[in-house]
Amino acid sequence: MIYLWSILVFAGLLALLSAALVVAQRYLVHYGTCRVDINAGQRTLDVDGGQTLLQALYGSRIFIPSACGGKGTCGFCKVQVTAGGGPVLPTETPYLTRREIRSGVRLACQVKVRADLAVRIPEEMLNVRLFAAEVQSARRLTHDTRELRLRLADPPEIAHRPGQYVQVQVPSPDGPVFRAYSLSSPPHEAGVVELVVRLVPGGIGSTYLHRLSPGDPAAFTGPYGEFRLDEDPATEVVCVAGGCGMAPVRSILLSLYHRWPERPAWLFFGCRTLRDVFYLDEFRALAAKHPAFHVVYALSDPLAPGETWDGERGFVHLAVDKHLAPGVKRQAFLCGPEPMIEAVTRVLLDKGLRPADVFYDKF
Ligand code: FES
Repeated sequence: MIYLWSILVFAGLLALLSAALVVAQRYLVHYGTCRVDINAGQRTLDVDGGQTLLQALYGSRIFIPSACGGKGTCGFCKVQVTAGGGPVLPTETPYLTRREIRSGVRLACQVKVRADLAVRIPEEMLNVRLFAAEVQSARRLTHDTRELRLRLADPPEIAHRPGQYVQVQVPSPDGPVFRAYSLSSPPHEAGVVELVVRLVPGGIGSTYLHRLSPGDPAAFTGPYGEFRLDEDPATEVVCVAGGCGMAPVRSILLSLYHRWPERPAWLFFGCRTLRDVFYLDEFRALAAKHPAFHVVYALSDPLAPGETWDGERGFVHLAVDKHLAPGVKRQAFLCGPEPMIEAVTRVLLDKGLRPADVFYDKF
């Protein structure tokens, strides 16, 4: 019995000590003002020590990507810390490759500013802005997906590339958090952004966006993302999407036909059932205007009694395999669930695409 009491007392003391350390760190330890050097003197920030690097950058209106609100669970907030970051934490290693660790890449939300730091941030990221907007319209696309159209107020226009995304500011009990959504509108409509939002049960971002109504304010940062269209109009563009992966490929296709009306392109969209189909009429209308554009929707589940369907049946990679001839110069954009991306990538490589010509974004 005496052993049990000793263990309990020891455990209690340890818990008290850890709590005291946390309180001391939060309220008693002052790191003073620390200097954050960005890109070898391009910018310097004087920030309060003790906060995370992510908080310090946001406080200075440098909006690097962050989809989990700084909890260390999305792996988006990577920056290269070249001095003063301390050792890599176990919370970071699942999101960093060995090569990234060797070159000093860190999760900004896990790095505490305790001394002067030097970081490298891509130029493009330094140009990311915070936008204030107003909901212009909210339209139901399917039983669980809606389209939101936001009119920009300040700044009034956004310069983005097709396929990029923004981070919508979402209110939460712990303060605002950011959630990533691809832009489905094309860059030439610079005064608005459109988003495709599927309601995820319990999802803080999608629940918030599904409750917004016309006239409501909204805020987001952006643009972010690496997609780049091949500028050669002879290169055929292949877009394959599933679910909300439709958003970036819609932006790509609308901008493609705004710029190159004759350019060959394919859209393959994989859905489970008829009730998951959206934007089909819009793309059929686009194909009617641009004969080099082909639209293929595929349903993977059996039809319900009484339903009719004139598109493809089965998984979308089978439709890609069926319709694309081998040996054509192409660039492909794949946006959807991981198994879809893997299956479609195998088909495209078999058709002769080089891995460097296949871009993907997992949804
Ligand atoms: S913000 Fe999500 S991991 Fe850092």
